[in-house]
Amino acid sequence: MFSGLVDCSILKRAQDKKLVEIVLHNLRDYTTNKHRHVDDYPFGGEAGMVLQIEPIDNAISALKGQREYDEIIYTSPDGEVFNQKIANQLSSCENIIILCGHYKGIDYRVREHLITREISIGDYVLTGGELAAAVMADAVVRLIPGAIGDEQSALSDSFQDNLLAPPVYTRPAEYKGWRVPDILLSGHQAKIDEWKLRQAMERTERLRPDLYGKDD
Ligand code: ADE
Repeated sequence: MFSGLVDCSILKRAQDKKLVEIVLHNLRDYTTNKHRHVDDYPFGGEAGMVLQIEPIDNAISALKGQREYDEIIYTSPDGEVFNQKIANQLSSCENIIILCGHYKGIDYRVREHLITREISIGDYVLTGGELAAAVMADAVVRLIPGAIGDEQSALSDSFQDNLLAPPVYTRPAEYKGWRVPDILLSGHQAKIDEWKLRQAMERTERLRPDLYGKDD
């Protein structure tokens, strides 16, 4: 599932431009048992299977033997909730491992001893961490200079500065009687910039009052 996502859109373009390298690793390649099992029954008699620590430790140790990692992230609904601030932090890292969670969980010792950060992409439960990893990869990679058309546009994204983006319009200036705001056609750049800022503030206060006025 993840490879399909990595081979399209922004993630593919950024890799083609050599701005980022994304390598997928299969935990089965790090097993030592004949059947390449990566999970086992949980101690204590719960239902479902649990990812074992050994292949995960083997995989992380092998990767750490090749380069240093800034973060070893585990995707889990009980992690800190992903947001633009975390995306910004991760975009300045050199190397990151993302360990995709498993629907019934992984041996807790992995989280206690091998993971540096646990991240959730929202308060809902996915079947695995692959989509969460892809969401984070997209949000982080688009911040790398050169990954999207012009760098300015990542800086003016919604959520940078805790403000939602102002509305945008394009030609025609009038469609079915619905007009683009006159100010945008005025050619007066200072006034246009002021209008955009006011719109961003008004929309943030109305739609995301939890963000409004936050300064982290
Ligand atoms: N795995 C399952 N649900 C998840 C979520 N909401 N965020 C990150 N990883 C998950």
